[in-house]
Amino acid sequence: MLVENQVPLQRYNTFGIVAKAHALVRIRDEQDVRALAADPALAASPKFILGGGSNIVITGDVRPLVLKVEIMGRRLLHEDEHAWIVEAGAGETWHELVAWTVEQGLPGLENMALIPGTVGAAPVQNIGAYGVELQDRFESLDAIDLASGESFTLSAAQCGFGYRDSVFKHAAAQPGDFGLAGRALITRVRLRLPKAWRPELGYLDLQKRQEETGVEQPTARDIFGWVCDIRQNKLPDWRVVGNAGSFFKNPTVTAEQCADIIGREPRIVHYQLDDGSFKLAAGWLIDACGWKGKSMGHAAVYDRQALVLVNRGGATGGEVVTLARAIQTSVYERFGIRLEPEPVIV
Ligand code: EPU
Repeated sequence: MLVENQVPLQRYNTFGIVAKAHALVRIRDEQDVRALAADPALAASPKFILGGGSNIVITGDVRPLVLKVEIMGRRLLHEDEHAWIVEAGAGETWHELVAWTVEQGLPGLENMALIPGTVGAAPVQNIGAYGVELQDRFESLDAIDLASGESFTLSAAQCGFGYRDSVFKHAAAQPGDFGLAGRALITRVRLRLPKAWRPELGYLDLQKRQEETGVEQPTARDIFGWVCDIRQNKLPDWRVVGNAGSFFKNPTVTAEQCADIIGREPRIVHYQLDDGSFKLAAGWLIDACGWKGKSMGHAAVYDRQALVLVNRGGATGGEVVTLARAIQTSVYERFGIRLEPEPVIV
């Protein structure tokens, strides 16, 4: 196992922030993790797991040992009368997996096309888009304990999925807590794609596409194409303009809080959830505060979607965080709502 020192991270984070890893190890299989666990010096050092770097803001050189996950492979693992089970290595690119399943005639992931990042990062924050979340297609995952080198398998219930959340986002604050952040590395993910497929067209953007194209019974391939188009129009390509997708989560409020805000701001974009609470569009809140297209230093609010912060070139993580704080303050002052960042600040 090779430990690389002073590794530039700019290519490894979609914000394109310039920083270095003091030390970096590439993880290509389970054996690499076991070798780490068996090395007393490496086993003892704090670790940071890096997937596609699409959900992080790096605010300086990274001191913990960076584990860059490069476990590859994808296959149709199993098929029965109800579903196909597809398995992919954590280092595979998420979008390439989605495209491959659609090409193979295995529908179910098409609404999550073009989400940046790796397969291993997908369960960490329960990625989702256009009405489908990873947890809706999740079968199980394999992970490995960084301290002992032991492998284990988790079901959906054990992953504790929530909106952009899972056990992998939480540290164990006290013994008995089941937080796995920094403790376990996801090696392989299995997805269940039911054969009883229906197009998921609940989102307005997709309904509009359906009307425009006049396709009455869209296939998974149609939806894949529509989602790619919609995202390309609305979201910046990180290869061109650095960003980490939505910078804040859409906040949830009670029915009373929502009614109160609507009383003051009748145009606020809101959606009722199954439990009776309401989700507010953070992009709308930020836009309403006048942030769209504004910059602070080299960090800016994207001019076509206020929920996305971008690197105009040469932004530091500190500049991105400063802009994010300024946005949080103005949204709080105007609406009384605290926005919570979606990316991990490193
Ligand atoms: N809006 C504005 N102004 C803006 C941005 C949005 O008024 O500048 C309004 C829109 O008109 C729309 C509403 O806010 O009525 C919601 O916007 P949009 O449909 O673009 O979706 P979103 O809530 O901003 C979420 C996810 C995205 C996902 C899309 C589609 C979160 C934090 N974001 O965005 O996920 O792709 O829905 O499902 O849940 C991500 O997590 O990184 C991400 C990109």
